[in-house]
Amino acid sequence: MNTYGIDIWADDNFIIEDAEVKVNHLCKPSLLDITTEIRSSGLRGPIIIRFPHLIKKQIETLYTTFKRSIQENNYKGDFKAVFPLKVNQFPEVVNAIRTHGKVFNYGLEAGSKAELILAMAHTPMNAPITVNGFKDTELISLGFMASQMGHNITLTIEGIAELESIIEVSKMCNLKVPSIGIRLRLHSSGSGVWAKSGGHDAKFGLSATELLEAFNLLKENDLLEHFHMVHFHIGSQMEDIIPLKRALREAGNIYAELKKMGADQLHAINIGGGLAIEYAQHSADRLCTYTINEFSNDVVFLLGEIMNKKGVEHPDIFTESGRYIVAAHTVLITPVLELFSQDHQEKSLRIKETNPPLIEELLHLNKLVNPVNSIEYLHDALDHMESLFTLFDLGYIDLQDRSNAEILVHVIIKKALRLSKDYPRTEFQKLQTRLQEHYLINASIFQSLPDYWGLGQRFPIMPLHKLDEPALRSANLWDITCDSDGEIGFSSSSPLYLHDVDLDEEEYFLGFFNVGAYQETLGMNHNLFSHPTECSVIINENDYSIESINESSSLLQVISSLGYDETKILTKLKNSLARSTFITEEEKSDTLQKLELYLYQNSYLRTTN
Ligand SMILES: Cc1ncc(COP(=O)(O)O)c(C=O)c1O
Repeated sequence: MNTYGIDIWADDNFIIEDAEVKVNHLCKPSLLDITTEIRSSGLRGPIIIRFPHLIKKQIETLYTTFKRSIQENNYKGDFKAVFPLKVNQFPEVVNAIRTHGKVFNYGLEAGSKAELILAMAHTPMNAPITVNGFKDTELISLGFMASQMGHNITLTIEGIAELESIIEVSKMCNLKVPSIGIRLRLHSSGSGVWAKSGGHDAKFGLSATELLEAFNLLKENDLLEHFHMVHFHIGSQMEDIIPLKRALREAGNIYAELKKMGADQLHAINIGGGLAIEYAQHSADRLCTYTINEFSNDVVFLLGEIMNKKGVEHPDIFTESGRYIVAAHTVLITPVLELFSQDHQEKSLRIKETNPPLIEELLHLNKLVNPVNSIEYLHDALDHMESLFTLFDLGYIDLQDRSNAEILVHVIIKKALRLSKDYPRTEFQKLQTRLQEHYLINASIFQSLPDYWGLGQRFPIMPLHKLDEPALRSANLWDITCDSDGEIGFSSSSPLYLHDVDLDEEEYFLGFFNVGAYQETLGMNHNLFSHPTECSVIINENDYSIESINESSSLLQVISSLGYDETKILTKLKNSLARSTFITEEEKSDTLQKLELYLYQNSYLRTTN
């Protein structure tokens, strides 16, 4: 049975039972049942299903693991955390973060004015808010307002100019000064695709010289008492722990030096995000080489060791992990609309009365292929196909013969692979690479998996059902955008095999897992395919409920989000129809009804799937 690496990437969140993927929580609903129920109301297109219990699980694990490391290492500082809004700003996610993070005083991180407003509206007063990224005086003023309202907010400066703006705002207004943090530009960089967030050339942070300048500026302007935090972030999805250890040593020593220089109120080190999650479906591709236990032990131990050596009090430890908190809670479900070799089925054959000898030979092989001769016949069929293509190029056979050859060879290969139990694995892989099946999925990769499109980031993919049946087709996934980049190609080093399904007879759904971080916020409306329909599923002991269903935008909503006037568009379409001289009044009224129906439906395809 192909388990699609579920034991590698799923962290026990999903299991295979009764040949279906199930959520491994309380009543263990199957993803297919949930999908079928959502679609029963007529909804079509991709669906984002959220499982808030998985956000809860990650928050609890983060806090309990750090608390345990703190206890075991006799560390005197506290552990605090904020969720970076840029990772997923959707209301259902932020609400789940707030609900499940409350007991821990979990806060939010903002990187823009809009995110700060969200953070101010959604963070409990005693939970922290951190603000990173470039800031103008307005954003800084918003920070002062938040502080005035009673929020525990830290403005992390990314450059000297920002500190100058803070000084200016503090002089101009009489509001309570927020905590000030300084982002360090470390020479240690991270590992993996996002490693450039750290290191000498990083976009953010202050070098040692700038840090000293900032320190003096703070002192000269009586703001040193508000300097509470140093911050670093060496990149998302750190695949290796060694770069983090280097960064901790560097940042820890900088912290201790600053304390010795007189930064008396400095009490926190913010280690940013970067805690990785596993996306690999094959053991050889494993990305994450450490556990959260190792991560928290290293952070706590190293910082404790540095501070002990330098005789400095242990700082509070802040993290801004985003991916780790929300990646697993979302599954993207896409229906498969079409298999492009469906026409390679026997029913499409148009055999002539007299056929070229090689076609007759293929007909013979097709009729007589059995478990004993399957491999031999498969090789013969492939050989004949090459010869038939040559004959076609030389003009000896016609298009009908060529089509019959293609169909027969595909049918023989499928039969042979099904029948043969001991076809050599490497040969099988080579063959599958040659004979890829294209599965058309009702989704946009640009909208739903932008990191695959932009960075080649792979996500776990598997069918939701039929998991007791052989899946032998090497799968190449095409999305429905008019863009040839909208494709997840078959990779022989990390192969994805799917089922040979007859979509006229049955539906087939694929699940894309661990897509809850960054994908929704980075996704773009390429071809005007908008954010998919989303919902949350709450699982109980005996049943589950589907909540907050939010359908993907209608055609008119998508168009108007670009700045077009919905009413004008409708009027133009109606006028064109009214002026048409080709159809009767009755036909016009029918067409108008249909048109209005379409305009209020979402932009994904509405074939039976
Ligand atoms: C400053 C900062 N903090 C936190 C994060 C979140 O990182 P991750 O989602 O890998 O935990 C990022 C993302 O790159 C970041 O730039």
